[in-house]
Amino acid sequence: MSGINSKIQELGSVEKTMLIPLWSRAEESMNGGLIDDQLSIDIINKIDTSLYGFNQMSRFVKNYLLTAIANRTILIDEYLDKIINKDSIVYNFGCGLDTRFARYMDKVKQWNDIDMPEVVDIRRSFATESEVYRMHSLSILAENPLYGLEIDKNCVVICEGLLMYFDESEVKGFLKKMIDATESGNMILETLGSWTKIKINPVIKGIGENSRYTWSLNNTKDCRKLDIRMEMVDSKTIFDLNKSRWGSMGTLMRSTYLNKRVSSKITLYRY
Ligand SMILES: C[S@@+](CC[C@H](N)C(=O)[O-])C[C@H]1O[C@@H](n2cnc3c(N)ncnc32)[C@H](O)[C@@H]1O
Repeated sequence: MSGINSKIQELGSVEKTMLIPLWSRAEESMNGGLIDDQLSIDIINKIDTSLYGFNQMSRFVKNYLLTAIANRTILIDEYLDKIINKDSIVYNFGCGLDTRFARYMDKVKQWNDIDMPEVVDIRRSFATESEVYRMHSLSILAENPLYGLEIDKNCVVICEGLLMYFDESEVKGFLKKMIDATESGNMILETLGSWTKIKINPVIKGIGENSRYTWSLNNTKDCRKLDIRMEMVDSKTIFDLNKSRWGSMGTLMRSTYLNKRVSSKITLYRY
């Protein structure tokens, strides 16, 4: 595993952000928190996290981050539980070191974890492919982001912690290519409010990177502006659950005006 740390250090700025949700899921799980993700703990234990300043985070930022990541994990799992079946093919774009495949492999026909080649190379040290579980080196900006993958109309597309790093035309282009190729299916997208673009996220800054959020969506019902074939089924924000963890932030987010502009939303779309 010694080579893993140098491979991670060589990653690009957006690729390196995969450490943030991984560390958060592990930290939350280690302390008997809102989620129980032993695999994230096992993976993070093999990575030298001292290089990324996680321990220098303020209590406020740490609680915000851990609650946000745990809640988005729970919300995506809840949507998946509603829509998947033994015939489902899942495409998880920008998978990073996400561990959801371990929870869902037995419940679907095929789970595809997709990311940039350098990330998939690192991922291969922690996960093993099988008939059901596959890893692919593909970019959402590729001419065909599903190149070489089995295409299915009963598919589920997941984009967690991904689309906010692109611009609107890139997001639209990706959605169009996905919908053209698969024709029908479900999408679970994480989108951020517009105020999150104002400053570099302090946690991203904390790990020594400078990736900015460049795309936002305040109103998740506005999906038809992204692609006319998309229909919103349901949408929740990270502030909608485990409210005791949010403190004064939760009180502030009762304002719809603020919530739309600040929160991370997890939305289920059908097309
Ligand atoms: C914040 S991480 C999210 C990782 C994972 N979804 C999670 O929640 O743990 C962002 C991920 O997007 C990936 N990424 C960046 N550019 C990409 C692209 N063009 N196509 C696919 N994935 C990309 C990065 O490599 C990184 O793994």
